[in-house]
Amino acid sequence: MNEMVMKTKPILTFIKNSCNAGYMVWRRTISAKAMEKARSAAVRVDSHVVFIAYVKGRLYGVDAVCSHARCILGFLDEERLTVKCPVNTLLYDLNTGAMLDPPYVATEAPKEKLGLRKYNVRENGGWIEVELPD
Ligand code: FES
Repeated sequence: MNEMVMKTKPILTFIKNSCNAGYMVWRRTISAKAMEKARSAAVRVDSHVVFIAYVKGRLYGVDAVCSHARCILGFLDEERLTVKCPVNTLLYDLNTGAMLDPPYVATEAPKEKLGLRKYNVRENGGWIEVELPD
């Protein structure tokens, strides 16, 4: 009996992890009306904090937590499609989440390590939704 449990436990764990891997769901955040008015917002959904921007009829989503010192973003530049950290001025690309300019207190910071995660964002039935892992 114990031998059977020992043999099946890793298989069940593998199946459980495989089933959970990559499963994404759309989660409601704020109303589309509020988003249109605000142009940008940092919203919390479960353990995720997402910076959402609404620029020229398009939605963008990146992590709202600055990768430098973990503060909440930020200042939206609608012309350049960037968001700037209000603390140390690190500049991110809204399309990719990539760091464009390093924080002024760490000008040699590695760009490849300080990028932000990108999120899919959509409007659905009057609400702004973010695609997140279930
Ligand atoms: S906390 Fe954002 S650049 Fe330093």
